[in-house]
Amino acid sequence: MDWDQVWVGAHIATLCEGGEPYGVLHNSALAVKGERIAWIGSAAVARQKAEEYEVPIHDAEGLWITPGLIDCHTHVVYGGDRVAEFEQRLCGVSYEDIARAGGGIQATVKSTRDASNETLLAATLVRVRHLMGEGVTTLEIKSGYGLDFGTEKRMLEVARQVAVLLPVTVKTTYLGLHALPVEYRLERRTYVNQVSGPWLQSLAAAGLVDAVDAFCENIAFTLDETAQFLQAAQELGLPSHIHAGQLSDMGAAELAAKFSALSVDHLEYVSQGGIDALAASDAVVVLLPGAYYFLRQKTPPPVEMLRRAGVPLAVASDCNPGSSPCTSLLLMLNMACTLFGLTPEEALSGVTRNAARALGAFRDIGTLEVGKRADFALWKIARPAELAYGLGVNPCVAVVYRGQLRR
Ligand code: NIG
Ligand code: FE
Repeated sequence: MDWDQVWVGAHIATLCEGGEPYGVLHNSALAVKGERIAWIGSAAVARQKAEEYEVPIHDAEGLWITPGLIDCHTHVVYGGDRVAEFEQRLCGVSYEDIARAGGGIQATVKSTRDASNETLLAATLVRVRHLMGEGVTTLEIKSGYGLDFGTEKRMLEVARQVAVLLPVTVKTTYLGLHALPVEYRLERRTYVNQVSGPWLQSLAAAGLVDAVDAFCENIAFTLDETAQFLQAAQELGLPSHIHAGQLSDMGAAELAAKFSALSVDHLEYVSQGGIDALAASDAVVVLLPGAYYFLRQKTPPPVEMLRRAGVPLAVASDCNPGSSPCTSLLLMLNMACTLFGLTPEEALSGVTRNAARALGAFRDIGTLEVGKRADFALWKIARPAELAYGLGVNPCVAVVYRGQLRR
């Protein structure tokens, strides 16, 4: 028998497209061989086979199984916090004003540069463990709070270390263009050249870069600077993400389409032309309701237009100290529904199927299908919409990661 173990009796939300809502299979079973899903079928058949071939059975009667959740946009590696800035913003100072005055991202750059590897790693592990507690089996981690070669490298090394120390998959992103570091204040061009040239090459050669990202915004980098970086990445065969349209429309959606970016993230501000360009590309739009909420923004992303254009939507935590100090992906499901108008099914697709696409990993993860990685979460819920319903509620009872029970 080609099964190592089998989970029997659960309702399985496969999140596969084209069939039942959520790809639901009632009273089913899922068998695992090694790291992979070996079989999905009826509970009765599974019980019989498991008995016959003496395969260990896990009783999942009455539980729901979904793919392991995927947080496809995080900045979980950072030093310090931005609590003082939070207080300032509550007194009326804007996020942009704080950034222009040298706070914001620059403040976190300073505390990240000052933090030892041990401190950075310890703080990161706390955040990642919290995400994992809610069923996360894969997360993306960006650099971008170092902005000098050494600290960016340390951040990416910490990100890689996470996957060595914890049972979770990490995709790393070199966010070289996050903010202009103070030491390059008068040499913008030199900085972009460094990031797009020797720094990118050497981080990639060290095996630390799965993708690149740029913050294309009036308080960050221009369209041309973003294009230069993405071009350099493309020449190295590296895919890209873009922080686009968070505070204004710079035309980054069109640029993302041009470079076949994996994802365009935030996108509160985008034109119809930008949406059309995305629709004609394979890019996923990653919605970040935590940042929208925390910065008390007023213009939500044009979800209905994106939906009509058929652009796949993902949802992520954007976990970072400045705009989304959040380590709950389930809370993001709720906010994607309440603040952005996603259906619970769209929201759940956004942290599974479409999040996998946003990481270029759909062949391996994101839905429950034979041959895909056996990453799944077991939930004590009555129906899948409940995952987006609760606020601060965690119905995760167990996680299977690469075919092994995680807790
Ligand atoms: O995704 N937009 C740029 N980067 C982060 C926020 C960074 C910060 O404020 O520290 C984001 O919102
Ligand atoms: Fe971000």
